[in-house]
Amino acid sequence: MKQKRLEAILEILPVCDSYLDVGCDHGYLALMIRKKYPDATVCASDIAEGPLQMAGKTMEQAHVTDIPLYLSDGLRSVPVSCECVIIAGMGGQTITEILLSDKKYAENTKYFVLEPNVEVEMLRQWLGDNGFRILDETLVHDYKYYPILVCEHGNQTQDAYDVMFGPVLRRQPTAVFTEYWTNEKEKLLTYLSVMKPTDKSYVSYHKRLEMIENVLKNGEDC
Ligand SMILES: C[S@@+](CC[C@H](N)C(=O)[O-])C[C@H]1O[C@@H](n2cnc3c(N)ncnc32)[C@H](O)[C@@H]1O
Repeated sequence: MKQKRLEAILEILPVCDSYLDVGCDHGYLALMIRKKYPDATVCASDIAEGPLQMAGKTMEQAHVTDIPLYLSDGLRSVPVSCECVIIAGMGGQTITEILLSDKKYAENTKYFVLEPNVEVEMLRQWLGDNGFRILDETLVHDYKYYPILVCEHGNQTQDAYDVMFGPVLRRQPTAVFTEYWTNEKEKLLTYLSVMKPTDKSYVSYHKRLEMIENVLKNGEDC
């Protein structure tokens, strides 16, 4: 279990009356939310029986009996509306599919807390193109680096820097943000040092490197 990642999700959650953890797997996050917000409604769902059984065991061991567990592909078969939906530990593409799985459910949800383990840039672009606004972001280092996005319905125009670095993160860079992008810069320098300008990815790597250097040097002024 990536404890720091789950704690970072817990910390960035808006205070709400009700939470749904989609793709709950072991159920640890739902349990952590229950402990932090004892008066809130907390539900959890998963697409598969196995994870739900594990979540059931987690709840049993913690003597928690008030977190209903639903078998549901995305939002489709969750019978209770929740103010905040959390979708964590999946790829950006899967997260977009879950957000689209029941448009009515999504329309009635106020906040979405999303933690893509891959494809974050694709997800940010998709959110901007599909009527979501990123309100808050963090980046946590827990063996790997995990971005966490808090969104609501609304319009947001993002430029290429916002999509790549995060509209909030790049304006409020943390030590973890600087560490992550410094590592990415080093990796790109290594790749580029063995590439020829005619190689397929040379131009795009070069462009990324330029953008990283710009952000590390000039922060939000780029
Ligand atoms: C890697 S686990 C992440 C578990 C937990 N959310 C976390 O962040 O630690 C991904 C979970 O998402 C579930 N999942 C994948 N696609 C889903 C979907 N369309 N609807 C609901 N759950 C899904 C999987 O069954 C699995 O239990």
